[in-house]
Amino acid sequence: MSSEALLELAGVVKRFHGLAVVQDLAFNLKPGEILGLVGPNGSGKTTAINLISGVYPIDAGEIHLGGRRIDQLAAFRRVHLGINRSFQVPKPFRGMTVAENILVAAEYGGGQPDQEQILEEVGLTAERHRVASSLTVNHQKMLDLARALATEPKILLVDEIGAGLNPAELNVVADLLLRLANRNIALIVVEHLLKFLNRITDRVLVLSAGRRLFEGTLAEASADPEVVAAFLGG
Ligand SMILES: Nc1ncnc2c1ncn2[C@@H]1O[C@H](COP(=O)(O)OP(=O)(O)O)[C@@H](O)[C@H]1O
Ligand SMILES: [Mg+2]
Repeated sequence: MSSEALLELAGVVKRFHGLAVVQDLAFNLKPGEILGLVGPNGSGKTTAINLISGVYPIDAGEIHLGGRRIDQLAAFRRVHLGINRSFQVPKPFRGMTVAENILVAAEYGGGQPDQEQILEEVGLTAERHRVASSLTVNHQKMLDLARALATEPKILLVDEIGAGLNPAELNVVADLLLRLANRNIALIVVEHLLKFLNRITDRVLVLSAGRRLFEGTLAEASADPEVVAAFLGG
């Protein structure tokens, strides 16, 4: 496999109840790259993130990180190697404060992240002593991202962070993701919002029923009739 890629998927398959929901998925990701993962509901985007982060085992294929095969490692081992993710529905410890949530994540990651910097970066410094359950949706999403950052990821998988955010909040998130990429973190961003994707992605991978329909720039995707019919048309 090529040496400059940080993450490599080859022939990845996932079946649920005998039905393939991810089929022959293959792509590479370099440090600092932002890949948009797009496709209709049920096309396998979240499953792909779950396979990379180790929530589910794969049924075929291989996943490599920095040249090392990782698809048989437990999720926490992948976190220690530098893969982490945020969730489509944020999952903080609801009874803990923002700062406590970040502290727990830092311990899970086993590193020494700068927690002040993380709070600052996600815009939660003023909320640090608030209980997670009392946060707005936007702040819960930022906390979810902060928890992932506290494990010092090389690759960050971001699942529909834009849903439910207003345009101003979206701009702040886009700036943040671009800053992370500038720090050489590789990102996979699952998103439906094309304007948002257009601003931050280098490349998009379009999934349809678990298969790659298209890979290229968003502009190229928008000019592809098959992609438009399957996804971008609506
Ligand atoms: N744990 C699971 N058990 C059974 N089926 C699942 C499970 N997770 C996802 N699926 C199915 O896999 C398909 C892809 O789902 P998902 O990856 O969540 O799609 P997306 O994130 O693109 O909307 C869907 O048909 C979904 O119902
Ligand atoms: Mg999903």
